[in-house]
Amino acid sequence: MIKKISVIGTGVIGTGWVIRCLAHNKKVVAFDKDIKSKKKLIVEIKRAWPFVKKLFNKNKPNFKNLKYVSTIEEAVKTADFIQECVTENYNLKTKLISAIGKFSKPNAIISSSSSGLLPTKIYSKCKNPSRTMIGHPFNPVYLCPGIEIVPGKKTNKFFLNKAKNFYKSISMNPIMVKKELPGYLSDRLQEALWREALHIVNEGYAKTEDLDRAIEDGPGLRYSLMGTFLTFHLAGGKAGMKHMLKQFGPALKLPWTKLKAPKLTKKLSSRVIKGTRQQSKGKSVTSLSNIRDEYLVNLLKMRKKYENRIRK
Ligand SMILES: NC(=O)c1ccc[n+]([C@@H]2O[C@H](COP(=O)([O-])OP(=O)(O)OC[C@H]3O[C@@H](n4cnc5c(N)ncnc54)[C@H](O)[C@@H]3O)[C@@H](O)[C@H]2O)c1
Repeated sequence: MIKKISVIGTGVIGTGWVIRCLAHNKKVVAFDKDIKSKKKLIVEIKRAWPFVKKLFNKNKPNFKNLKYVSTIEEAVKTADFIQECVTENYNLKTKLISAIGKFSKPNAIISSSSSGLLPTKIYSKCKNPSRTMIGHPFNPVYLCPGIEIVPGKKTNKFFLNKAKNFYKSISMNPIMVKKELPGYLSDRLQEALWREALHIVNEGYAKTEDLDRAIEDGPGLRYSLMGTFLTFHLAGGKAGMKHMLKQFGPALKLPWTKLKAPKLTKKLSSRVIKGTRQQSKGKSVTSLSNIRDEYLVNLLKMRKKYENRIRK
C-alpha cells in the first residue's frame, strides 16, 4: 500500500503533486535544492485549495501530512513512491536519480515527471531500475487527471501496475504508453502545435493572441471531450473517418506543416513574450491561474456526464 510520497523539486509541477497528494490524504515529504521554495509551496497550496476543495470535497489542507526536509536522503528514505520533478535536463536528472536510488527503499517506486526525456537514459545510473518509470502529468497537476506512464527498457510490469493503481487512488486517469518514445504522447502532439505556432509568429502571419483564439474557439472547445481522431471521425460526416480520409487525406501531402522548430531568435522570443504579456491585459500569472482553475473545476464537473456517455 502506497502511503508516503516523496516529491523531489517543488517548482510548478512538484507543488502540484504535493497539493494533489494532500487532497487525497497521503503523507508527503518534499525537497527542493532552493530553500526559498518551502515558503512558495505553502503560498501556492493556500491559493489552489479553494479549487481543490470544490473538486475533491476536501475542506482544508492537512499540513500535518506535509514534511519539508533539507536533504535528498531524508526526502526519500522512508517513501513508498518517489515523484521526481526537477528541471528538465538529462544530466541533472540522471545524477539526482542515482542518489534517489541509493537512499530509497529498494522497492520504492521512482517516477519522473519529465515531459519527454527517455526513461532508460535518465535511470541509467539508478539502483534497481525495474521499479522506475515516467509519470508525466499536466499542469495544474492538482486538477488535471491525465498521467502518462512510460516504461524504460528495464521497467518491470509489477511496478507499472502498482504505479497505475497509485495514480488511480489519487483520482488520475493513467495512460499506459507501450514503450518509451521522445516526447511521449501528449507532448509530442503539443510540441507539433507549438512549433507551427512559432513559425507563424516568426513569419509575421499572426500575433500570439490570434493563434490562441484559433485554438480556443475551435479545436480547443472540442478537445477536452474528443481528441484528434474522434473529432476527425465526426468531421467526415455520416461516413465518418472513411470519408474524412478521402477528402482530407491528400492535404497530408500539402506543405501545411513544418514540424522542425524555427530558431528561437531574440526577435521571435520578444514577439512571443510581448504577445502573451498583451494577452494577459495586466493580469498576473497568479490571477490568470485563479481564472483557469475555476474554469477547469467547472469543466471537469460538467465533462463527467458527457464523457460517460461517449466512453461507455
Ligand atoms: N511546467 C509544466 O507544464 C510541466 C508539465 C509536465 C511535466 N513537467 C516536468 O516537470 C519537471 C519540473 O518542471 P517544472 O515546470 O516544475 O520546473 P520548475 O522550474 O518550476 O521547477 C523545478 C524545480 O526543481 C528544483 N531543482 C533543480 N535541481 C534540483 C536538485 N538537484 N535537487 C532538488 N531540486 C532541484 C528547482 O529548484 C525548482 O524548484 C520537468 O521535468 C518538466 O519537464 C512540466
